Amino acid sequence: MKATSLALSIAALALVVCAQEPAPRSVWDGIYTRQQAEAGQASYTQYCSACHGDALTGGEMAPPLAGGDFLANWNGLTVGDLFDRIRTTMPLNNPQSLNRETNARILAYILSFNRFPSGAEEMSTRTEVLKMFRIEAEKTK
Ligand code: HEC
Repeated sequence: MKATSLALSIAALALVVCAQEPAPRSVWDGIYTRQQAEAGQASYTQYCSACHGDALTGGEMAPPLAGGDFLANWNGLTVGDLFDRIRTTMPLNNPQSLNRETNARILAYILSFNRFPSGAEEMSTRTEVLKMFRIEAEKTK
């Protein structure tokens, strides 16, 4: 009997601990700084806009990086997924040529262009940190 009640209190405690874990964060939580996005615009112009367009609308071959179709592609995935997609496959004509800082700046610019808010902290350059932030096309909370 004693063991059962001990097990029960441990289970109850575990529940409380889990309930207090912060909700998963998203692109709506201000995960880059305005300065970072501004710096990213210059890098975007240098490395990406020839194919993806000045207004991120895409080109003859390259898909858009802003707007409904783009967000529908990435909705529910994480910022880390998008970061790694860019980091490992882009720029298409010279993949993996940009370092993590440059990729993070460019991604900050893409997020700002898609009207996700900036915040007080710079975007991380670590994929595992960026995987904590979900891409949500619509603000849910
Ligand atoms: C030489 C042209 C070219 C350049 C330069 C280029 N891209 Fe791309 N990009 C493409 C093409 C074509 C695709 C689609 C085919 C593919 O994924 O290989 C693509 C796909 C993408 C995707 C996937 C979009 C989606 O919704 O699935 C992202 C994100 C992306 N590019 C970001 C970038 C970024 C950021 C840069 C600059 C660092 C960049 N690209 C530079 C041609 C280019």
